[in-house]
Order: sequence, then C-alpha cells, then structure tokens
Amino acid sequence: MAEIGVIGGSGFYSFLSGARPVELDTPFGRPSEPPVVGEVNGREVAFIPRHGADHRFPPHQVNYRANLWALRELGVRQVLAPCAVGSLKAELTPGTFVVPDQYVDRTWGRKHTVYADGRPVVHVSPADPYCAVGRAAVIAAGNQHLAAVTEDARALRDVEPGRVVASGTMVVINGPRFSTRAESRWHAEQGWSVVGMTGAPEASIARELALCYTSVAVVTDHDAGIAAGEGVTQAEVFAVFGRSIERLKDLLAEVIGQLPKSAEDCECRHSLDGTAAVDLW
Ligand code: ADE
Repeated sequence: MAEIGVIGGSGFYSFLSGARPVELDTPFGRPSEPPVVGEVNGREVAFIPRHGADHRFPPHQVNYRANLWALRELGVRQVLAPCAVGSLKAELTPGTFVVPDQYVDRTWGRKHTVYADGRPVVHVSPADPYCAVGRAAVIAAGNQHLAAVTEDARALRDVEPGRVVASGTMVVINGPRFSTRAESRWHAEQGWSVVGMTGAPEASIARELALCYTSVAVVTDHDAGIAAGEGVTQAEVFAVFGRSIERLKDLLAEVIGQLPKSAEDCECRHSLDGTAAVDLW
C-alpha cells in the first residue's frame, strides 16, 4: 500500500530506487506502467511515469483514468503531479517551478470522466482544482530550499531557475503539437501563465476520485508567442526538463515529508458529498 502518489511527466521516468512494481488492472485498462511502490522521507509512495517508462504515450493518449484509479487502489489519497510546461510570461524563465492554482482546459477527445458507462451520473466542482494543502506544502518546501516568490511580485524579474512561483493559471492544450504564435499570444493575452498538455483531464479525474491533487509545473521554454526565434522544440523541452529533474526530485522528496499523515480532513476528500457517488469510496 502507498499513501502518496507521484505521476512523473516528460523526462521523469523513475523516482524510487529499489521499489517494487505492482501489476494491477483497472476498469479503464492498465496504467501507463505498473506503479512502483517504495519509501521516500519515511512515507510510502507509489510512482507512475505518465507517458510510460519509454515515453510511448503522447499527452492525448495517456490513460489518465487508469493511472489515477490504480494509485487509488494502492491506497493513495494525495497525488503530486509534475509536468513540463511552456512559459507565457517573459519573467517565468526556464527552470522555474510554478504551482498553478487554476487551469483552463483546451483539450478535446480525451476520456475525461470515470462517471460514465453505467456508473452514477456525478458532477464534481473543479472551481479550485488543486489541493490547498498540497500546494501549501510545495510552496513551503520551495520557500525553504528555493525562496518562493509570488507571481505578480516585482521580484519576478529576479526569478532564477529552481525558484518556486506560488500561483498561476495553466492552459492545457491537446498537443502533441505545440501552439502557433497566434494561439500562444492569445493565451498570454488572457493573463495565463504557463501552457502544458497533460494537466487536464488529470486534475478533474483526481477530483472525481476524491483525491488530493497538486500540480508542479516545470517551465522548460518560453512559448512561441513570447520568444522570438523558431518556436518551441521537443529537444529544448526535454533538455531543460533533464536539467531540472534533480531539483524537482529534491523538492518532491521534501514535500512528501511535509504532507499531512492523513488526508481524511482535506476538502478534496469531500468532493463527492451530495452526489450519487458519495458512498462509492
Ligand atoms: N510542454 C513544455 N513546453 C510546452 C509548450 N511550450 N507548450 C505546451 N506544452 C509544453
């Protein structure tokens, strides 16, 4: 069993050394990889690489439902979900970690709910889509090790790689292509902070399963509308993520140590109150 789940993004394929893989199936098929379960900072953690260990699942073909269901089956109630993102603000430089507090879902055609096909009809609210406790833990860990800054602070000009930015809106595009310059400029004009491809429907499915879910967005590039030049390349994204990975793992280990022992009191655990699924879990 595990209490905390980590879903690794692009370039983040392993986390726990000497951990054991757990083969399991879900009503939605198999997760991207059998989760591995091991210990981090005295806590039982399950890890799944979102895209598979060999990055075979593009963002629109990740089985988000199976990954989250599998983690839940293992006992996980708190999920930390790092992902690579492009920056929509000049001052959010590559290497920065953003802890989003909102997202905008521009994906389509993905299996985005567990409440279909004979399960009860359930409408959850993602008004505040991320776990307040999990976000606070990431920001606190960032403060401790990396000096957090708030997004609208003048200090943003001084953001350096590895800093944790304590808020921001993540727009999630369908991918696998990056944005055109016009799309990117439009995203930036909305005031959104970063752009990724995997933050939805992962966050809302977590909410449907009454899981605490915290996103940690790793800035790998300035998106096409922000940067002059040729536009974003996959090589750039992977290279910068690779350079951030050890800092990210250190941050996550610190956060894991700080997460509360029981998530039972958290608001996220009440996301199904008043719905037909309240007694399902
Ligand atoms: N992931 C990393 N960089 C990205 C970008 N610029 N757009 C969408 N997803 C990304």
